[in-house]
Amino acid sequence: MCGIVGYIGEKDAKNILYNGLTKLEYKGYDSSGIALIDDNKNLIIKKESGKLTQIKKYIEDTNIISNIGIGHTRWATHGKPTQINSHPHTNCRKTIALVHNGIIENYLELKEELIKKDHKIISETDSEIIVHLISEYYTGNLYGAVQKIIQYLKGTFAIAVISESEPDKIIIAKKGTSMLIGIGENENIFGSDIPPILEHTKNIIVMDDYEIGVIEKNKVTITDLEGNILNKVVENIDLTIEMAEKSGFKHFMLKEIHEQPRVVEDVLRGKIENGKIKFDNFNITKEELRKIEQINIIACGTSYHAGLVGKFIIEEILKLPVIVEIASEFRYKTPILSEKNLVIVISQSGETSDTLGALRVAKQSGAKVIGMVNVIGSTIAKEAYGTIYTNAGPEIGVASTKAFLSQLTMMYLFMLYLGDNLNLIDNKYKEYIIKNLEKIPEKISTILNKSDEILNIAKQLKNTKNIMYIARHINYPVALEGSLKLKETSYIHSEAYPAGELRHGPVALIEENVPALAIALKNSKTYDKMLSNIQEIKARDGKIIVLASEDDENIDSIANMSLKIEPIDEIFSPLLTVIPLQILAYYISDEKGLDVDNPRNLSKSVTVE
Ligand code: AGP
Repeated sequence: MCGIVGYIGEKDAKNILYNGLTKLEYKGYDSSGIALIDDNKNLIIKKESGKLTQIKKYIEDTNIISNIGIGHTRWATHGKPTQINSHPHTNCRKTIALVHNGIIENYLELKEELIKKDHKIISETDSEIIVHLISEYYTGNLYGAVQKIIQYLKGTFAIAVISESEPDKIIIAKKGTSMLIGIGENENIFGSDIPPILEHTKNIIVMDDYEIGVIEKNKVTITDLEGNILNKVVENIDLTIEMAEKSGFKHFMLKEIHEQPRVVEDVLRGKIENGKIKFDNFNITKEELRKIEQINIIACGTSYHAGLVGKFIIEEILKLPVIVEIASEFRYKTPILSEKNLVIVISQSGETSDTLGALRVAKQSGAKVIGMVNVIGSTIAKEAYGTIYTNAGPEIGVASTKAFLSQLTMMYLFMLYLGDNLNLIDNKYKEYIIKNLEKIPEKISTILNKSDEILNIAKQLKNTKNIMYIARHINYPVALEGSLKLKETSYIHSEAYPAGELRHGPVALIEENVPALAIALKNSKTYDKMLSNIQEIKARDGKIIVLASEDDENIDSIANMSLKIEPIDEIFSPLLTVIPLQILAYYISDEKGLDVDNPRNLSKSVTVE
């Protein structure tokens, strides 16, 4: 989720690094920094929390001459967005500097080892551990030290390292997150993404996992972990910078929909250890949890829909009562809360005014309030008693997709965490849940690979004026979310109802030009009821689109159009059923030629009431 850039050549490195970092702004950041080696072979570090403009000012004011450097924009995953936690990080003697993108899962045990060897670790980050590890094994060969320490790192990393002692080279390495090298004339530039490279060269080497790069002015050498030199292909990337920021996708929303398999992996990564769920900043003891008799979830919009799914998961599996409320309603009512309530406020941005207001009201009632947020250091994260970070990375599209999926995934982990601490779940079923969660990324990819089928349906629906979404039980919140996605990206009026409510009024809306989209999964305990609702709609000349299971042979004879997902235990189905609805909303909006990433009247975070 962070941005890395590095340069070595004959030009002024500091400006190239700064411009490169500005090309990574779309990845979001809360702090940034650069490391340079000047003409006197001194290592210079400049890093600040907050906007990139702090680095710009430094560069404008300084007269440092340097032709080698590394830069970083941070999207915090471990440790608040402070100056000390920002990158580059250095070893104790400040002779080696490192920038890192990724998550080191075993950083705490490595940290303990390093502290025993008298290393002074000054930040809260996992990244700083790496440069001290390199320093520990540095014997005058920076490449050799990097080669040595990679074996100790668990998790994902793209790193770039420079040393005063070797001012003519930058060492890079990667595993599980991207690193690209741009091959220039008497210069080379690399980054965690294409945009910073493209204005210098279109000749790109894409590094693969467990490769180490030695980047010199006139030479790029890439080896495997054993030191064998690899013959890497130099590709000519014909992309504009704007397209590169979207990784070649037409819009950020589509890019973020397609990031969801990785997002689920990132949410799960490092949270499950020996079958136990680990939340680093939960801050509520087991004894305090033992007093909990009810969970209250409070949020707005898409985050509220994630809470509704969470209600089904927690009540169905733990039999623990859950109340889910809209934040703008909760904050003005008389809260009935005590220390027997655990309040979870869900917010991607961590800045939503109504959710923040609800958090403050809940705190006054004596309940413990946890913030489930995507942005570390956000106001809700700061004011909550504890936090669960959803690690979805920056979400640029106003319509939330990958953040919603990260919230859903986190809801399963939160349920397991409660079940563990309150002895409300047996190990066998816990293992079953974890095993199923680990299969979700691949199942999502399967759906993403069938997007063309969804595009065909979008083309048929794009001129519709009203679409009704219906579902039951755990997929009713998904119907709400699918309807919201459609409304906010294509401006088509849409309502979502529990299908059992149809006869209580909404069925009056059905007519030939008011299609309904029904989520009806064959293995659902409410499948037969859904079929009855579908028949009711058809009997009134309503067009029906059904989101069904692939093994449902009957549905195509009933539905006018169908979206299919592979069969899955219903308790996990929201993680899959929402994907076709996100894609459908996206394609309808794009087919209508609308501004998908920035829909009218909306903002990414509603920070005013
Ligand atoms: C989601 O697509 C919308 N952009 C909106 O409903 C959003 O979920 C809501 O404003 C809550 O935002 P938050 O998660 O940042 O608090």
